[in-house]
Amino acid sequence: MGKMINITTQASPSLALIKYWGKQNKKQNLPATTSLAMTLDTLHTTTEISFSQNKDVIRLNGIEKQDDKIIQFLDFCRKYFKTDHYYTLFTENNFPTKAGIASSASGFAALAAAVNAFENKGLDNKALSALARRGSASASRSVFGGFTLLKAGAREAIPLENKDYWPELRVMVCLVSAKEKFIGSREAMEASRTSSPYYSVWIKSSRSLCKHAIDAFYKKDFEKLGWAIRQSYLRMFSTMFTAHNPIIYWEPGSLQIIQTAETLRKNGIAVFETMDAGPQVKLFYLEPDEKQIKKMILQECPDLNFMICSAGKGVRYL
Ligand code: DP6
Repeated sequence: MGKMINITTQASPSLALIKYWGKQNKKQNLPATTSLAMTLDTLHTTTEISFSQNKDVIRLNGIEKQDDKIIQFLDFCRKYFKTDHYYTLFTENNFPTKAGIASSASGFAALAAAVNAFENKGLDNKALSALARRGSASASRSVFGGFTLLKAGAREAIPLENKDYWPELRVMVCLVSAKEKFIGSREAMEASRTSSPYYSVWIKSSRSLCKHAIDAFYKKDFEKLGWAIRQSYLRMFSTMFTAHNPIIYWEPGSLQIIQTAETLRKNGIAVFETMDAGPQVKLFYLEPDEKQIKKMILQECPDLNFMICSAGKGVRYL
């Protein structure tokens, strides 16, 4: 009877203000830097899990896929939960997949919760966060809503503040391109680690940067936090630009938004950009400035698609 069940979960992307980039331990997928992140609302991955006869079947946005990262994770779950079940997964994102909007964060958080519920294991969020990390380290943050910290070398993320902590804080996710990325974040961070001369500086300097950001976060000093947000993504990308071979996710449209943010700051508007493993640019700002920011962005990039997010909820069972 238990095998007839069908469970649906949902999780949202975890956008890092201070980035995780590089691994301390590859096998266990432990991060090399401490990341500070915000779980977004508006965007989500929905995953439905049911029983499958003799192999895992994965449908991503309606298309059947043989996704190695997902299969490896399911293999880990089978060992972890001591089961020989195979699964059928239906996974849908309401945003472009694999284009650098942290679809693996929401995806593995939703998946870890789905397997946990399907196997009736009742893991709490801390254990779920550690399990999700096996799929993607950023997914350990997506298990929790609001603001989270994933410490260097940690097995699970820590919830810092809930989604209502800073109600004016917004993120505009600018969709520069919906193409799938040419190199996954896992491979890209490994290339940075093994071949960029700046990698060690990245690791060392991200410690003080994160302290600076946490301090600003608790003081709600947006200018101070914004400075750290920009430094973090720019230092992270420096390790990619200088990897062998260099990795450049940026597109002309990305730079156009970065420059528009600079113009807005020169006009006294506090807006701070970040980017992840893809060409999309995400702008942090406070709600009272939204009108002016939208106006300038649409003036500079009239065809741009964007989504506006606040801090959102952690993983949920539907
Ligand atoms: C740039 O969590 O996707 O988004 O653990 O190898 O699956 P794996 O990597 P992943 O990397 C995310 C990197 C980032 C920064 C961040 O979210 O902290």
